Amino acid sequence: MARHVTLLQCYNTINVIIDPKCCRLLMPAIIGISLGIAMSMMYAPFSENSCETFVANHDPQELVNKREQKSLQGLEDSLKFEPKLRLQQENVAPQRSPTKKLIRPRYASTELGIRERLFVAVMTSKTTIDTLGVAFNKTVQHHVTKMVFFMEEKGQTLPAGMSVVSFSDKYPHLVPIHVLKYISEHYPETFDYYMFVSDRAYLRGEKLVDLVNHISVSQHVYMGFPQMMKDGSGTYCPLEGGIILSQSILSRVLAELDWCSTNCHSSDASLNLGQCLLHSTDMNCQDHTGTKSYTYYKVSDFDFDDEIPKLKQKEVFNASISVFPMPDDINHYKLHRYFCQHELNQTKKEIEKTKDNIIYMSQFAPGGRESVNWPIGVPEPYKPKSRFDVIRWDYFTETHIYFQDDFTNYKELKGVDKQDVQEVIKISVNRLNEKYGNIFLYSSLVNGYRRFDPQRGMEYTLDLVLRDISKQNWEVEKRVHLVRPLGRVEIVPMPYVTENTRVNLILPVTVDEKDGVANFLDSYAKTCLDSGDNTYLLIVFIYRHQLDGGIEDTFSVLKSLVSYYERKYQNGGKVSWVSLTHQEAYISDLYIMDEVVSRFQPESLMLLSSVGMELAPDYFNRVRMNTIQGWQVFFPIGFWQYKPNLIYDQKPYPTNIDINSKSGHYDANSFEHSSFYVSDFTDMRKLFSAEEAQDSDIYDLFIKSQKLHVFRAIEPALKHKFKNFSCPSSAPLKMFQRCLTRRSLGLASRGQLAKLVFEHQKKFGPDQLNSNNLNQDSGRIQLIKNLN
Ligand SMILES: *[C@@H]1O[C@H](CO)[C@@H](O)[C@H](O)[C@H]1NC(C)=O
Ligand SMILES: *[C@@H]1O[C@H](CO)[C@@H](O)[C@H](O)[C@H]1NC(C)=O
Ligand SMILES: *[C@@H]1O[C@H](CO)[C@@H](O)[C@H](O)[C@H]1NC(C)=O
Ligand SMILES: *[C@@H]1O[C@H](CO)[C@@H](O)[C@H](O)[C@H]1NC(C)=O
Repeated sequence: MARHVTLLQCYNTINVIIDPKCCRLLMPAIIGISLGIAMSMMYAPFSENSCETFVANHDPQELVNKREQKSLQGLEDSLKFEPKLRLQQENVAPQRSPTKKLIRPRYASTELGIRERLFVAVMTSKTTIDTLGVAFNKTVQHHVTKMVFFMEEKGQTLPAGMSVVSFSDKYPHLVPIHVLKYISEHYPETFDYYMFVSDRAYLRGEKLVDLVNHISVSQHVYMGFPQMMKDGSGTYCPLEGGIILSQSILSRVLAELDWCSTNCHSSDASLNLGQCLLHSTDMNCQDHTGTKSYTYYKVSDFDFDDEIPKLKQKEVFNASISVFPMPDDINHYKLHRYFCQHELNQTKKEIEKTKDNIIYMSQFAPGGRESVNWPIGVPEPYKPKSRFDVIRWDYFTETHIYFQDDFTNYKELKGVDKQDVQEVIKISVNRLNEKYGNIFLYSSLVNGYRRFDPQRGMEYTLDLVLRDISKQNWEVEKRVHLVRPLGRVEIVPMPYVTENTRVNLILPVTVDEKDGVANFLDSYAKTCLDSGDNTYLLIVFIYRHQLDGGIEDTFSVLKSLVSYYERKYQNGGKVSWVSLTHQEAYISDLYIMDEVVSRFQPESLMLLSSVGMELAPDYFNRVRMNTIQGWQVFFPIGFWQYKPNLIYDQKPYPTNIDINSKSGHYDANSFEHSSFYVSDFTDMRKLFSAEEAQDSDIYDLFIKSQKLHVFRAIEPALKHKFKNFSCPSSAPLKMFQRCLTRRSLGLASRGQLAKLVFEHQKKFGPDQLNSNNLNQDSGRIQLIKNLN
């Protein structure tokens, strides 16, 4: 077989990117907290009414001065606690100097002068805001910290998602002065850099941010596209090219605003701003600061399609941050596409260069050239520590996948799996053709193997049969390896939650389940009531028939049990019950929630529970941490015990459930345990129509609405005793089938069941398997039915 190993790389490399903005946002908070603690510690002793009060009444500066002049004499005398009469008119600290009183700002960041990065003020107009303004917003807004559009007159309808400020005096040439006023009122010190630009410019947001991030904050910056003033007194920068000012310059301009509003009345807005800047700062506009320059390209009568072939050749054009003026938004977008592609090409080149570098450097590193693994830059494959943690390769052909998990021998390829296989085949053939000069036609896939490596991504090995058209369709085989690396790993910021939220357990109880309730209550009392954990239990008794005077109340014993616990734990009545009547055998958790939700405040945390679960404080804490109001709901996957008489050889069966593959399994089909806030539930419920609610459960509700994160995870602290599912056929088809699956999978592991079948056959012979004389053990009969 002609073996050939081709190196393929399909996707970009992994980057774990931690947004620097996070750190910037976090720092003030950390500093603030530490300052707060330090200050309260400093303050505590002074506030007590003791001799220190005296010291406190003196200006600390004065005490320091006195100590430095070694004249603490007088002070020491008075510190001897001798009574001293202070007359009303006597000034307590007569020689106190008129020092300015320090006003602590609200945030530590203000006091420390931590500022945001870049403010962009865009001059737009009533006629262009819908076209050029929107284009500008779409291409730049997500890169900069804050962007505000300014115009001289109110438009009728403003585009969404943009902050627009309009001035009422209808003089376009005065807009820059008004903008300065606006900034002085709202953001005089909030940002390091301020950019003024007209919506006629095309700006490369990413490059712009990169530029301001690399200028030292200590520099005075006044940058743009310099032009001579008409009277030759200096330079100014037109707004259409963009102007960047540092905070230091801006504060000088703001101090001279009055001069500017009385003296700058040229008809050109840019000139007005230029004059104002020249007067207040005495600086000329430049196109660079330090070693950094502001690159721009001025075009005239720009038409993308006509001019791009020429402009492409120019290095200055490729490097420019701003291109202006744009005639319309179409050209703006076309130019944006050009620069995006350009940046992509640059990035690809950079990646190639980095790869070459890694290969070159590897010869000096331990392991030498050999240590470089493929694909370069992607983490190396996982190396198993023992034979138990080998990652399995799944075998596939074009139509089926084999032994994908413990329960299936083979499965038809469909959906994303099929797309995936088709895609890797296509990529392989294309790449082989690229390499050998288009001589291959795809014929068939002999073998395919794939595995998911959590450090790396999806790996594939394919054996392909190809026809070589240059040699009369001669068949050749090629083996290729592919890796689909994991994409950019994103850290999802999570809101903060407190750990002492009250958990409201909702326990639905049907007639079939009533035997388990006493156990549940007992364990609830032990784990929650005795320890005073902040929980509340609401038991929902579900009747199949209306409760008349004649029929005996099936739940009466349980109800008196609940009142017993209520009486026993008087410290807040943390158990109670309600009744529901429901004729159908199947009852959806959505319906139960609808009935009880009104009894709770919107900010209550609900936890749907079931009879048979074990209660553990760890579980409640995890629920509190994982459920976030307006953000995340939690659907834990509990550990479900197998049927005891099938997995244990003799009685008595152990009472506690160990987590191992012999005693149970994590039931990925279980959705009955969930936690969420009432407000989230009611909000999502409003979006759900009555028909949709018919055959859905709470999980569907949150999944379909897609407004909240649905967090689903294995939960070792949630253990569930074996449950005999009744699976009513009146349930919606999906639920019914899920129930049947759970009933079969929940009996025992395949190995255990196989052993039982084997033992059974030995005892009764293979023909007897389905006969009716097996009644000794109902559990085992059910098992055999399920296996058929
Ligand atoms: C403006 O930009 C923001 C952020 O990128 C976006 O959310 C908003 O929809 C944009 N507005 C328009 C009208 O495109
Ligand atoms: C400018 O960039 C384009 C697109 O990446 C490229 O084709 C062209 O060669 C570049 N021009 C110069 C002079 O580098
Ligand atoms: C980027 O590279 C591709 C292929 O190398 C080329 O077709 C495309 O024109 C380049 N982009 C630009 C903007 O030149
Ligand atoms: C399980 O449930 C079925 C029907 O609901 C019942 O016939 C059977 O006796 C139950 N088995 C056990 C062991 O409880």
